[in-house]
Amino acid sequence: MIDSYRCLQYFVRSYSRVRMTNNRVDPWRKHWTNKTPFWHKDEVNHFLFKHIDKLTEGKQGLKFFIPLCGKTIDMRWLYDLGHTVVGIECIQHGILEFFEEQSLEYIQEEGDSFTLFQTPDTRLQIYSGDLFKIPTKVLGKFNAIWDRGSLVAIDKEDRKLYAKLMKEVASESCKYLVSVLHYNQEKFAGPPRNVCKKELFKLFGDTFDIEEVDRLDRANIPMGAEKISLEEFWEVVYYLRYK
Ligand SMILES: C[S@@+](CC[C@H](N)C(=O)[O-])C[C@H]1O[C@@H](n2cnc3c(N)ncnc32)[C@H](O)[C@@H]1O
Repeated sequence: MIDSYRCLQYFVRSYSRVRMTNNRVDPWRKHWTNKTPFWHKDEVNHFLFKHIDKLTEGKQGLKFFIPLCGKTIDMRWLYDLGHTVVGIECIQHGILEFFEEQSLEYIQEEGDSFTLFQTPDTRLQIYSGDLFKIPTKVLGKFNAIWDRGSLVAIDKEDRKLYAKLMKEVASESCKYLVSVLHYNQEKFAGPPRNVCKKELFKLFGDTFDIEEVDRLDRANIPMGAEKISLEEFWEVVYYLRYK
């Protein structure tokens, strides 16, 4: 009797673990089936293009991290500038589309919690897997981080974990640009989610100096899969540097 009770408990625990694991990734699959996801842009992100010197300080051959990369062409642009680029994307289909659309050859390698797709020169690497499951020691340290559509995409409950991860992979000279959205969360639940300035300081302020460097008024510009328009809606870029 006790044995079958334990067995049932074990089954329930394992099942909820599997559910939790899948729940982070599964909601994203629908965006990648037979269409280009609504957030994808055919040009280099305007903020990245404008503020690239803040990330590089004119240095060559840096190692860039693009968490939750989708198939952004920002990766191709940074690669063509001569940097090493590391992205993470949970939907493998998106990674394959990236290599195909960019006419880049890739080599595929299996790891414990991920599959790695990389160019033969290893300067462009995309890990396929859940960001929170890939050991940070596998990723190493980065000179620069570019986050567009990443912090605003993850579940609110994962934000602390996300900030911890970024602090782990940032080298002490790392420069970090994060593009977030400021809007009234009561009017739209997201994703993309509202990440207010206070929250950003709460998550990163112990480790980084944080400075607002740019903002764009996106009022009444449709957002998200639902194409919601909001009267107050800002796209804001913050610059983070180790204290
Ligand atoms: C809003 S998109 C942003 C993509 C990209 N940064 C851009 O600017 O085009 C978020 C991406 O992260 C992926 N994603 C969501 N949660 C993830 C996770 N836990 N680990 C890895 N990728 C994830 C989604 O499949 C999606 O492609």
